[in-house]
Amino acid sequence: MSALLEVRDLLKTYGTGEAATRVLRGLSLCLETGELAALLGPSGSGKSTLLTILGTLMKPTSGSYKMLGQDMVAAGDKALTDFRNAHIGFVFQFHNLLPDFTALENVIFPTAVREGRETPAARARGRDLLSRMGLADRIEFPSANLSGGQKQRVAVARALMNSPELVLADEPTGNLDRASANQVMGLIGQINREEGTTFLISTHDEKIAGFCRRQIVVGEGVVTG
Ligand SMILES: Nc1ncnc2c1ncn2[C@@H]1O[C@H](COP(=O)(O)OP(=O)(O)O)[C@@H](O)[C@H]1O
Ligand SMILES: [Mg+2]
Repeated sequence: MSALLEVRDLLKTYGTGEAATRVLRGLSLCLETGELAALLGPSGSGKSTLLTILGTLMKPTSGSYKMLGQDMVAAGDKALTDFRNAHIGFVFQFHNLLPDFTALENVIFPTAVREGRETPAARARGRDLLSRMGLADRIEFPSANLSGGQKQRVAVARALMNSPELVLADEPTGNLDRASANQVMGLIGQINREEGTTFLISTHDEKIAGFCRRQIVVGEGVVTG
């Protein structure tokens, strides 16, 4: 294993003056390639803030962040967009699927928009991922007709479409019943083992964190365990 992500002394403060909220207060973290890690902490502890920074969607107030050896704090917007598209996948608590699109269309849509066309290779990759998510019989279903757990599995397939090294998942099971949550976590574990994709998954649920080989606990703006 080698370092995929190295974060040192991250500070993030929202607002200024009396309204300033200091969320990250010198957080350091290293993730190796191939890890399956949970980011645990109570609501308000800064999990989403950290994932947004790691996803290069927001800059920290200060501190250093390297991914694949590249400096993500110094990089400009265009470089970050290219980097993100190539190397990072996202899963959110709310699946953000387009309801009128089929499961397959949802999975390949972001790639098709970026490439300006929908290739047979992309369709094949999308079908394969949906099958591996246990959705072989739902590939052509409008996503509005899928259950919550099925929608979230489509969202995981969409995040994996470009074979990212890192998938950041922000409370991906937060909206699901226990059985669906367990199924989503089981499938994420399977992808991690089979493809070596690194996952960092935020949750406030210790049972969900128990699916991961590593638990990273945040509190008071730093890693506490
Ligand atoms: N855009 C923002 N502006 C101001 N405060 C924010 C913003 N986003 C988050 N916060 C505050 O930062 C703290 C951490 O939030 P968040 O990162 O969402 O934590 P978590 O995901 O662990 O619940 C909370 O107190 C929240 O109110
Ligand atoms: Mg959050």
